[in-house]
Parts: sequence; structure tokens; C-alpha cells
Amino acid sequence: MSVPFVDMARLHAETRDEMLAAFARVLDSGAFVQGHEVEAFEREFASRSGAGHALAVSNGTAALHLALLACGIGSGDEVITVSNTFIATAEAISMTGATPVFADIDPETMNIDPAQILPCVTPRTKAVIAVHLYGRLAPMAELRAICDQYSLKLIEDACQAHGAMLDGRHAGTIGDAGCLSFYPTKNLGTVGEGGMLLTDDPAIATRVASLRNHGQTGKHVHVEPGYNYRMPELQAAALRVLLPHLEQWNVARIAAADAYRQALSDTSVATPAASAEGGHVFHLYVVRTRRRAGLQRFLQERGVATAIHYPTAVHLQPAYAAAGSGPGSLLQTEQAVREILSLPMHPHITSAEIAEVARAVRDFDQISSTAAGAAAAGGQ
Ligand SMILES: Cc1ncc(COP(=O)(O)O)c(C=O)c1O
Repeated sequence: MSVPFVDMARLHAETRDEMLAAFARVLDSGAFVQGHEVEAFEREFASRSGAGHALAVSNGTAALHLALLACGIGSGDEVITVSNTFIATAEAISMTGATPVFADIDPETMNIDPAQILPCVTPRTKAVIAVHLYGRLAPMAELRAICDQYSLKLIEDACQAHGAMLDGRHAGTIGDAGCLSFYPTKNLGTVGEGGMLLTDDPAIATRVASLRNHGQTGKHVHVEPGYNYRMPELQAAALRVLLPHLEQWNVARIAAADAYRQALSDTSVATPAASAEGGHVFHLYVVRTRRRAGLQRFLQERGVATAIHYPTAVHLQPAYAAAGSGPGSLLQTEQAVREILSLPMHPHITSAEIAEVARAVRDFDQISSTAAGAAAAGGQ
């Protein structure tokens, strides 16, 4: 039995007819960019997430860029974030002219370690971007306290954490602004690209609404140079079909993670640490192992697809080599990056597939311990 990493066909089988009807509706409307569908999606998303304002944009990177700009971040400023993230988090900072400063992570949660933020704060620090990596909420209460103490803005990169909850609040609605991506494989993923900025701050909302549309505040009135970060109607129409399924899909992901934890309990891999209820929506199911290359090869031979998110920490990417922090500067991040392995995870994964993955991991353990035993015996 082969086990795919994600399965878009199973995902879209559920909504195909509704999706085609939505596309026909857009085609017939003759309006294709930031119109009625986008407005309706924004209303529906704001109502489900409890956000004061929901602004649809072209992708998650654009949402992060606009969040930073609307928080007043620009040239000469520093923004603290993590290095074990998709590079877009750092790119958005660079796009404003500011510099990303990377804080190390808590090895248990793989999210930012609040204690590592203080040594990164300088008079130029203006904001922290909390990345809810793999779908697990970053420690928002601690981050809020630090940001309040140093008068920093707190922006959430919730691109992997749609619907994760902290004390009844949705990921993306806890900081000053929250950013989501609707890249196809996300917990809420469209059939192209899309993003969303959430905020309760009317000043941020007003600035983002203008910046995403060429700095426009009224027809042919451009108050500052902006961007074309608008969402197409087809994407909004697709997302309106998918949004009502998000909660149930997250429940399915959490149940799959629970099944994995039990099935892998007698194996050599370390499964994700426990989290508060609803505080992890398992965009990815990431285990840790010191024998990653061997295990990944073995799983591939057994037909189990895996991936690494992400194989190179951002501070070690050529694009950020000049930022100053080279190898050895973020010990926990670098150790994690060597050990992480993402196992198949999506809302429609079956218990048979999870059992098959666990069986393959167990077989790998057995073969490698037999090989190690034989090598030890041979050495005597
Ligand atoms: C953590 C994180 N930040 C930012 C992004 C950027 O989102 P997008 O690809 O929609 O621009 C992504 C998604 O790929 C992500 O996973």
C-alpha cells in the first residue's frame, strides 16, 4: 500500500460540484477581481474567526508584507522572528526594507522561545512575527507581554494554522494583525493562490485596504504608492465553498495526529509534544529522528511519501547569509532542522494508512537495530 503525502483528489471530490457551480457563477457575473465574491468571503471569514476586519489579498506573503507596512515597519527597523519557517516570513520583512533578526526555538514545540527574544531586542526592534509552525500556536501570551514591555507590534504568521484556537480566539486574531495563506495544500487551501489579513485595528485595516489596491482610497484617488495584492473572484468563490469544511477538516487532522501518536509510541521517532486542546491543527505532522536520511529512504521504498519542512533554516540560506548569523548561531533550530521529518497528513488520511506508516517505521527500527547489532558483533 502506498501512502501519499497529501491527496488533493480526495479533498476536492467532496466539494467538486459545489466548486464548479461557484466557478460558473463567477464566469456569468463578468466580474473577476476583488468584487462581490471577495467581499462575501471576507464577511464570512470575519464572522467565523471573530476578527474585526478580514482583508483578502493575493497570497500569504502579501498579507505579511502589508501587515508589516501597516504596522509602520520600514527601512532601518528590525523584526524578530524564527529561522525555521518558510522563507516568506523573512522575505516579507526584507520587502519593507527592515531586517529580520532570528530568535532560537523551544525544541519541544519548535516555535519561538520567548526567552530567546530578549537578547535580540535593540533600539531598532519594531515588531515580532510569531510563526504558528506546522499548525501549533506560538506562545502568544508570553509574546504579548514582551511586545507590550518593549512597545513592539505583534504580527501572527498564521499561514499554517487556520482555525487553531487559544482561549476561544482564532489564530490570526490574537496579535495586532494576523496573516493567512490559502496555498492549495494549507488547512484551508484554494485552487490557486490567496491570502488574508485579520485585524481588530481599524487603522491597520484601512491602510491595508488601500495598499493592496495601488494605494487607492476612492476611484482614481491614490494616496500613496501601493501594490496589486488583490484577490481574484474565482479564488474567493472557491474559498467560500471550502470555508464551511475547515472546522471538520481540522477535527480530522487532530484525530489523525492522535492516531499517529499512539501508533508510533513504540518506535524510535519522537512525536510532536502535547498541546492545549485546539492549539495545534496539524497542518503538518512532523516527527524527529536522528536517523532521518535512512528512515526517509526506507519509507520511500515502502511507498510512504514524506517531506522536510524545511531542510535549510532561513539564516543558512544564501539569501540571508549576509544577515550575519551563520552556522552555530541558532543551536536548537539547527538541531531541529537536521532531525525533522513530515509524515503524510491531510484530513482524509485513513487509519489503515496511518497504521501502514507506523508499520514501516517499526520495520525500519528493527532492520537498523539488527544491522547495528551485527556491526557491533562483527567488531568484537
Ligand atoms: C509559515 C508560512 N509563512 C508564509 C507563507 C507564505 O504564504 P504564500 O505561499 O501564500 O505566499 C507560507 C506558505 O507557504 C508559510 O507556510
